[in-house]
Amino acid sequence: MLIANTKIRNLSLKTTENTNLKPILEIKNVHKSFGALDVINNCNLEVGQGSITGLIGPNGAGKTTLFNLIAGAFHADQGEIIYAGNPITHCAPETLFKRGLLRTFQIAQEFSHLTALENLMMVPPAQPGENIVNPWVRPGEVLHFEAGVCQKANDVIDFLKLDHIKNELAGNLSGGQKKLLELGRTMMVDAKLVLLDEVAAGVNRTLLKDLVENILRLNRELDYTFFVIEHDMDMIAELCSPVIVMAEGRKMMEGSIEEIRANPEVVAAYFGGGKA
Ligand SMILES: Nc1ncnc2c1ncn2[C@@H]1O[C@H](COP(=O)(O)OP(=O)(O)OP(=O)(O)O)[C@@H](O)[C@H]1O
Ligand SMILES: [Mg+2]
Repeated sequence: MLIANTKIRNLSLKTTENTNLKPILEIKNVHKSFGALDVINNCNLEVGQGSITGLIGPNGAGKTTLFNLIAGAFHADQGEIIYAGNPITHCAPETLFKRGLLRTFQIAQEFSHLTALENLMMVPPAQPGENIVNPWVRPGEVLHFEAGVCQKANDVIDFLKLDHIKNELAGNLSGGQKKLLELGRTMMVDAKLVLLDEVAAGVNRTLLKDLVENILRLNRELDYTFFVIEHDMDMIAELCSPVIVMAEGRKMMEGSIEEIRANPEVVAAYFGGGKA
């Protein structure tokens, strides 16, 4: 294991009992094409509330597209997506964001000309100061709100142990620090389900350990559910149970990492492909 940390491993000892969890997310017969290309093919899967569920699969399997459908960036051609018991198939990203369904991007999307702290302060939706009239007619409310946002951003910085870079321009941060900042952005609202798209990519081993530890803390202490796309199998093994394997736009298998690694079809479709 590259992330050799017994404490983390003990914390992450979740087993397939998670398959009995109530689903926070249900993908039902979902289909999505881009022109003639069927990217998501009658896909069915569930994510249990309180789980850290992994999503693995070869390049081009449709993982990011599925996240785009869940988070409202694209809409499914057919099928239904249910979040916390309610259909969200045609919801806009902002609506889902306000309901606690958040995502990070495969490529970090920071505001490079703002500091790390300011990036966090940009997150909360519907800030009163954004309305051009409010600072004039309700200055007290705006100031009070902004003080609250600043406090919250500082709390997030503390939680993630990013104090040393909070006043650094985000554009100057390392790839790993940007990924931690993305995680921090999800903490500025009351997230319930967070979709992580390859947060480990380009992150050095030390920061990766921090990232893993923080994901586990958010899961245990703040009750976040995570749905995690990852090519780093060590990270998947540390964090995720269950793990879903996706191939050609649908679920191929679901199980513990040990079950997945022992399945010859998965080995042929994925591990044989060389990237993991
Ligand atoms: N907006 C789009 N328009 C057209 N084709 C797209 C679009 N988005 C994705 N695709 C195609 O859909 C397929 C699945 O892409 P997707 O990014 O979902 O794969 P992935 O499983 O996330 O792969 P990777 O592991 O490389 O990130 C690819 O063939 C891709 O080219
Ligand atoms: Mg992808």
